[in-house]
Amino acid sequence: DTLSLFVEMVWAFYHAHGRPMAWRETRDPYRILISEVMLQQTQVNRVKEKYPLFIGAFPTFKTLAAAPLSSVLDRWQGLGYNRRAVALHRAAGIVVADWGGHLKEDPADLVTLPGIGKATAASIVAFAFNRPTVFIETNIRRVFIHYFCADRDGVTDGEILPLVERTLDRENPREWYYALMDFGTFIAANHPNPNRKSAHYSKQSRFEGSDRQVRGRLLRL
Ligand code: ADE
Repeated sequence: DTLSLFVEMVWAFYHAHGRPMAWRETRDPYRILISEVMLQQTQVNRVKEKYPLFIGAFPTFKTLAAAPLSSVLDRWQGLGYNRRAVALHRAAGIVVADWGGHLKEDPADLVTLPGIGKATAASIVAFAFNRPTVFIETNIRRVFIHYFCADRDGVTDGEILPLVERTLDRENPREWYYALMDFGTFIAANHPNPNRKSAHYSKQSRFEGSDRQVRGRLLRL
C-alpha cells in the first residue's frame, strides 16, 4: 500500500544517501542532548564544526555543570542564539544535582529541563535510547507534507502525527528518524520553497514539476 511504499522509498534513500554525523555515532545521552540543542537553530555543517570542540571542552554533564558560564559561552561562539548555551548550562546543573548525573528516558521529564521543548525531548529519547516515540520537527514535517498533503496549504501537525505513528519503525526508531530527517533535508534542497513570495508557479504545477525532478534525481542516484 501507499504507506509501505513510502517507507521503502525513505529507507532506500537513506541507505544510498544517509549523512554521517558524529552525534549519530554515539549513544551517550549527554552528547545527543548537546547535539540536538545545537541543531535546533543551527545548520548541520556549522554544528559539525563546533560540536567536537564543545564536547572536547565539556565531555560530561558534570564538567559542563562545573564550568563557569563564561567559558561555556566562549565555546558556543559561532552557533548563535546564546540563550541555548545558558539553558544547557542550567540543564546540566539540574541533571547533576537532582538526577544523579543521568538523563531520564521519559520525554515528560526531559521537557522540564530549560531549553528542551517537546520535539527536542522526543528526539533525545529516540536517538539516545532508541525508544519508539512519535514526534515531528521541521524536516520530518516536510517529508510527510510533501508526500501526503502536497496539494494544499495549512496542514497541521495533528494531521501528520497519525502518519508518523503508522510509519514509525518500532524496532529501529533511531535510524528511521535519521532517514526521515535526511530525506526532509533533501526535499528542501531540491524543491522551491512554496512559501516564498516570489514563487510564480501555480500550486499544482509546483509540486508536479518538482516531484518529477526529485524522482529523476533519485533514479540517477
Ligand atoms: N541527526 C540526529 N539529529 C539530527 C537533527 N536534529 N537534524 C539532522 N540530523 C540529525
